Amino acid sequence: MSNSPTQIQLIQPDDWHLHIRDGEVMKDVLADTARQFARAIIMPNLKPPVTTVDLAKAYQGRIQANLKLLGLTGFTPLMTLYLTDNTSADEVRKAKAEGIIGFKLYPAGATTNSDAGVSDLKHCDAALEAMQAIGMPLLVHGEVTGSEVDIFDREAVFIDTILEPLRKKFPDLKIVFEHITTKQAAHYVRDAVTGGKNTIAATITPQHLLMNRNAIFAGGIRPHNYCLPVLKREEHRLALIDVATSGNPRFFLGTDSAPHAKGAKEAACGCAGCYSAFNALGLYAEAFESVGKLDQLEGFASFFGPDFYSLPRNTKKITLAKQAQQIPDELPLGDATIVPLRAGESIAWSLV
Ligand code: NCD
Ligand code: ZN
Repeated sequence: MSNSPTQIQLIQPDDWHLHIRDGEVMKDVLADTARQFARAIIMPNLKPPVTTVDLAKAYQGRIQANLKLLGLTGFTPLMTLYLTDNTSADEVRKAKAEGIIGFKLYPAGATTNSDAGVSDLKHCDAALEAMQAIGMPLLVHGEVTGSEVDIFDREAVFIDTILEPLRKKFPDLKIVFEHITTKQAAHYVRDAVTGGKNTIAATITPQHLLMNRNAIFAGGIRPHNYCLPVLKREEHRLALIDVATSGNPRFFLGTDSAPHAKGAKEAACGCAGCYSAFNALGLYAEAFESVGKLDQLEGFASFFGPDFYSLPRNTKKITLAKQAQQIPDELPLGDATIVPLRAGESIAWSLV
């Protein structure tokens, strides 16, 4: 394939990290994802969090009901559980039996709705032991939370103080380092020695491939470009682009699309999260095209995720065209509105 085509075909992608919330607003965001992706891993950071198989099943039921209401067939939500200090080995085994795809580690206080997260991983030994034994992946929000650590260093410090010791203690545990943002994380995952086992991978968001931290302060404060982990320096963005477009199967697509109503973002203490679902594939295509690597998009978006999770690859094909799409200023979100990533601007690629 030429690297400056005007149209590309690829096996339909999946989104390996997504927030769709609950209640009235869910259907407004779900439709954007289901239009583009065959499957998505649904994050469990609801209020209260999805900590048990029964809660996840009930949440899955509400998602299915919304899909039905929207007339969307052919989209599968993949459910996760929220790891807590009290998650038992039994719950891990039950989760496996019931088709739960992973457990999410939120260090307490790290991000939106993470207050019930893990206070110290030492409380999770039994659960992690069980996860390792049965091949249940651990999805990690990789940031330390101590206020003494600079916000731009939280991911790098997490690698040294939490992730590396965790991998030493549980060498066969499957870990996904979610939404990585730094060259330290990119290189850590790239260079991790796994003895040929499929034990570490990372997801990367479109905003971290396309923007550096200047985008949060361009001409004034830009709350819609604020997410966690926060955007980093240009050298980090370049390292992410490098690994994402390298064809290395340890790196795959996870939008971390995280809707918050406009008023919750444009506030004295605005919420973290970018709403990228509206044209996520267009954003990724733009990032890959920027380095002449569109031919690597299919592996990243459609193959490496299912391979890591031991799920079948999709078979349906989709087409992306180099057709500029104007992104609306706002989209409906229940009684409120949401400002999508790149609002009022255009994205060069769109789904046909
Ligand atoms: C996410 C959210 O709003 O749920 N926010 C974000 O900035 N990414 C939580 C998360 O994934 O950290
Ligand atoms: Zn997230």
